[in-house]
Amino acid sequence: MKKIVVTGGAGFIGSHIVEMLLERYPQAQVTILDKMTYATNIRSILHLASNPRVQLIVGDICEMYTSQKAVKDADLVIHAAAESHVDNSFGNSLEFTRSNTLGTHTLIEACRVLKVPRIIHVSTDEVYGEIISGSVNEDAPLKPTNPYSASKAAAEMVVQGYLQSFNLPVVILRANNIFGIRQYPEKIIPRFMTQLMKGEKLTLHGSGKNTRHYLSAHDLMKAMILLIEKGKIGECYNIGTVEEYQNIEMAHMICGLFGLPPKDHIIFVDDRPFNDARYAVDWSKISALGWKPQSSVRTELPKMAQWYADHFDLYNTGLPMRRPLANAA
Ligand SMILES: NC(=O)c1ccc[n+]([C@@H]2O[C@H](COP(=O)([O-])OP(=O)(O)OC[C@H]3O[C@@H](n4cnc5c(N)ncnc54)[C@H](O)[C@@H]3O)[C@@H](O)[C@H]2O)c1
Repeated sequence: MKKIVVTGGAGFIGSHIVEMLLERYPQAQVTILDKMTYATNIRSILHLASNPRVQLIVGDICEMYTSQKAVKDADLVIHAAAESHVDNSFGNSLEFTRSNTLGTHTLIEACRVLKVPRIIHVSTDEVYGEIISGSVNEDAPLKPTNPYSASKAAAEMVVQGYLQSFNLPVVILRANNIFGIRQYPEKIIPRFMTQLMKGEKLTLHGSGKNTRHYLSAHDLMKAMILLIEKGKIGECYNIGTVEEYQNIEMAHMICGLFGLPPKDHIIFVDDRPFNDARYAVDWSKISALGWKPQSSVRTELPKMAQWYADHFDLYNTGLPMRRPLANAA
């Protein structure tokens, strides 16, 4: 592969994708197309933006000219750009439909016109809606419950239409919650860590009993390589893990990293207008290709806390900081 395009390549998952591509495909040039929203920061991706094999196009996937310019002559497009924070989608839902649905449509139309031979569309397990018990496979109906997941499900509908009408060469992945470094501290793990670093209390939605599965960005990248190299065009793959915690359990684990008693450092705040109790996917389809998750969030938390402490001023310029325990790792 000579040219690979990653939309949202400056964001959390996108930056891990770019790192993985540079290592896995040493001959390839990687183009990042990213609007550089609040969720990213040029300082957090300097190691990528300054790499001679990387081209950074600051632009919006909703603009056809920009999307076409980026994907021209690409051998592979990995589409990870999105507005990604559910909480924001309750207040500014139109921006989610614009970037996630219209943006996906614009990008895949650019790919169709310019005959891109392979596309990976990054979707989410949230498109299935809440799964109270058990897990769902890729044939389950999409039942989104909030403006974010609705915009992602709508994007998938457009992709499905292009698959049938134009044989769009696309593979779709639907992943659990991902954890790792460089995630903007609005998502639960980095938010809890940076709240404690700033001397604030952890804010837990509702009862804190909602559960989430946590899959590492590194395990996701191994799944991504498999889908790039062996994923069947037109198919959708769930990417999941067995590691599942209530939000309150996550809060307790993170207090433990700082040696702080949870009862004095957690406050309960109003819940989201709707908050899925649980998401759970059956990932036997990708495991048949030889993939399984290997990292554990519980084991990785101390290293992540050290990273957020070492990079505290990326997100909190000028504030004093409480550090996690050095021996938490
Ligand atoms: N984080 C998770 O736990 C998770 C889980 C499953 C799926 N996903 C999906 O993975 C993808 C990446 O999520 P993330 O967590 O890295 O999000 P993120 O918010 O960290 O990164 C998204 C990136 O997309 C860019 N972007 C937003 N709108 C854009 C637009 N209109 N044009 C160009 N760039 C734009 C942002 O600037 C940002 O760099 C999303 O599609 C998300 O739905 C995320």
